[in-house]
This record gives sequence, structure tokens and C-alpha cells, in this order.
Amino acid sequence: MSRSKLIHRCSECGASHLRWAGRCGACGAWNCLVEESEVIGGSDAPPAPSWERPSLLADVDAGSFAPCLTGLAELDRVLAGGLVPGSVTLLGGEPGIGKSTLLLQALANIAASGGRTLLVSAEESPHQVRLRAERLGALGAGLWLVSETSLAGALAAIAEVGPDVVVVDSIQTVADPELGAAPGSVTQVRECACRLVRVAKATSPAGPAVVLVGHVTKDGSLAGPRVLEHVVDTVLSFEGERHHALRLVRATKHRFGPTGELGLFEMTGSGLVGVSDPSALLLGDRRPGAAGAVVVPAMEGQRPLLVEVQALVSRTNAAMPRRSAQGLDGGRVALLLAVLQRHAQVSLGSHDVFASAVGGVRVVEPAADLAVALALVSAVSGRAIGSDLVAFGEVGLGGEVRQVAQVGRRLGEAARLGFRRAVVPASSPEGPPGMELVRVAGVVEALDRLALGGEWARWPVPAEQFS
Ligand code: TYD
Ligand code: MG
Repeated sequence: MSRSKLIHRCSECGASHLRWAGRCGACGAWNCLVEESEVIGGSDAPPAPSWERPSLLADVDAGSFAPCLTGLAELDRVLAGGLVPGSVTLLGGEPGIGKSTLLLQALANIAASGGRTLLVSAEESPHQVRLRAERLGALGAGLWLVSETSLAGALAAIAEVGPDVVVVDSIQTVADPELGAAPGSVTQVRECACRLVRVAKATSPAGPAVVLVGHVTKDGSLAGPRVLEHVVDTVLSFEGERHHALRLVRATKHRFGPTGELGLFEMTGSGLVGVSDPSALLLGDRRPGAAGAVVVPAMEGQRPLLVEVQALVSRTNAAMPRRSAQGLDGGRVALLLAVLQRHAQVSLGSHDVFASAVGGVRVVEPAADLAVALALVSAVSGRAIGSDLVAFGEVGLGGEVRQVAQVGRRLGEAARLGFRRAVVPASSPEGPPGMELVRVAGVVEALDRLALGGEWARWPVPAEQFS
């Protein structure tokens, strides 16, 4: 027999509370507690497992677990070779970003190369999926479709088709009516995901690779993908500006490979197309010669990516000037402002400061410090930094510029795109032919070498000079 009781569940972290509150006591998120009924002692508990005998790790057969390529090179690189049979992958992203499009293209590719695939569409009718597939050129044998919102129906379809890869779009819209909770609630999302995980893991020798689509919403009305992170093997996040064509896929958790890789797509009229030369795309709208902009060769996984860092500084009378960092680490921008004030006498205490990485990408590695610092000083001085120049290096609290990893790759990518000068840490090795290196030991030296230091920077006059 199963009973149910009313609880308040946090849609951000999944913690349950007996009373409603404006703020979740577990994760601190606001306005995210939703009322739902929790089933106690449900009759749907799995049957007791039969004991498995231990075996030598070396004797375990891995043959049937070879990853299945999705045919989208950018996605396969992020997945370190494709979807692993019996694994569960969560693809999270804001509504409208292109999750259904990406997965329909992947399923069609797998089907075209002989795989058996099933799309459980709980959001769109067969007619809508068919129209989209026509537009994407994704109609072929081996791609099965069921439009189903009940979990039991989805499980039955999986059993009937016996696919190599299943996509459930989305996990927030499939529900088990027996659970009592509303579709999209934490109880429903977690329980449905757990049953699909069991399907992937229980089938012998290798179950289907299951991909769950999870909407990320800011208002907390649907249980977010964070609730499922620990249940699945791989968490992919699909990001990008909805009004911008660039889309980024990265793995935030991956049990079968590294998580550093970034996949880049462009949304076009006929679906998502992999971007093979992202640096050229990201620098496409650059205005060479503008003050406050510096290009940094950042690393995304094993791949160098040239990103423009911009800064804007404007005077304010507000007691608390604004500090905004988009696509950059806000903490590091604050640190760089302190370093500039202390070591280069560039005081921005009465200025609003806006800093951003252009193109919807996030550059949070410390190697971007030097470029951010130069962009800030260029913005406040109004002096442009040469358009043929890149800069990278970690800035320490003492104002020193420290060495970073992968110097050769960064310089190689900059040279390929026509940059001729690079401001680099003092200990950097030789660059590629035609690339002039400006080796600097500290931020102040970098400012002097680029003619950004000078009298203007001493304003307002530091307090110690009033004596
Ligand atoms: P969709 O995959 O439905 O997003 P999600 O599943 O994440 O909610 O994609 C939605 C957007 O993509 C939609 O606004 C239209 C756009 N789009 C294209 O630009 N080109 C295409 O070929 C397709 C299929 C969609
Ligand atoms: Mg969708």
C-alpha cells in the first residue's frame, strides 16, 4: 500500500521541507518551494536484486560498450567519442535553444549509419516532429517515433522497438500518474529519470544509450536539470544567446571522458551546423582600433579560441559603482581592479565598470587576466591597443604576470588569424614565425610597453601624495 503526504520541495536542489518558506534552507534559492505530495512506501519499488558474483576487472567484457557516434563531429568530441551504450545523458538548456533540433539530427545520423533509434516526444505531436525532420533532412529508415507523455507508454515503446539510442524529450513532460505529483515536479522528474536509468543499466549485455532533455528555467516552475545531475552519467549543457546564432555544448559531468571540450554549432535555416573555425566567427564583427578591446587566445579543452574581451568605464556619482562581468569571472575582474589600483595607480573607485567576453562565450580561465587588465586600462584612458595584438597571462596579487599552459597553441592560433604581436609572460618560449613577442614580468611593465601608462593614470591623485 502506498500513502502520500504533502511536502514543499525546492525545484532548484530537490530538498524537501515540511513548511513553505520564501527561501530554500538547503541551497539558498528564493521562491522555489512548490507544494507536492510525496508517495511513501510505493508499490513500484524495484524487485529485490539477485546477488551478483564478483569478477576480475580484467575479465569484464567491454566489447559491446563501444561508443556510438552521433555523426555530429562537434558533439562527438564533447562526448569523447559518442554515446556509450547503457549510459544516460542529460542535455540541459533553456527552452528554444535548439535541444530538440540537435537530438533529432543526431538520431537521424545514427539511424542512417545502421543504428536503431527511438524518439519519445512528450512535447510535440508526430506531425510537428515530421515537419521538423523534413526541414532537417532527417527522414530515413531506423528512426522510430512515439508521441507519449506517460512513463509507462514510453517504457513500453522502448521495449517494443529495442533501440540502440533513445531520446526522451523532455523529462519534465513525461509523468507517471500513479505518483500523484504534477508533471514537472521534482518527484515526477526524479522518479521518471530513475526508471529510465534502470532501463539503460538493467538490460544485458548493453542497454540503450538514453538521452534525457531537460529544460532549464529561471522561475523554478519546472524542476531543473540540477535535480538529476547525480542520477545520470553525463550532463551536457547547451548554451548560447537565443537571438544569436552561436550555440555551445559542453559537458559539466562525464563518466567516460574529460569534461573540458567545447562543441560549437551555428543555428541555420536547416538545423545546427558545426562551426569548424570558431575564432574567425567570434572575431567577425570586431572593430579594430576601438579603445577598451583586447583579443585573448583562450583554451577551451584542447582547442584554442580567440575571444575579444571588452571593457567600458564610465564616471558615476553613485556611492556603490556598478561592476558587471559578462562571460568573465566577476571575482577575477574585481581582483584585477584592485591590482590596477594598488600597483598601477589606476583608480576606478568612482567609475561604473562593465567587462565582457564577446559572442556569448565564457572565458573564466586566469590566462585571460592580462587581456582584461589591458582592456580596462585601454577603456579608461581612451587609448586603443593595436588591432594586430593578442595578450594572455595570469595576473598575481603582486601585479606580476605568470605563465599559463599551452602557450604554443595559443600563439599558433593567433598567428593563423593574422595577429602579429603578443603580450606574454616573461618566461614564454619562442612564438611562431612572424609573431613578435612582448615579454612582460608585470602588469605595469605591460602598460608601459603598450604606451598605456602615463600621467592620466595617476588621476585621481593617490592619497599619499597629498602630504
Ligand atoms: P528547438 O530545437 O525546438 O529548441 P528546444 O528543443 O531547445 O526548445 O529549436 C527552437 C529554435 O530553433 C526555434 O526558435 C527555431 C530554431 N530553428 C532554426 O533556426 N532552424 C531550424 O532548422 C530549426 C529546426 C529550428
Ligand atoms: Mg524541444
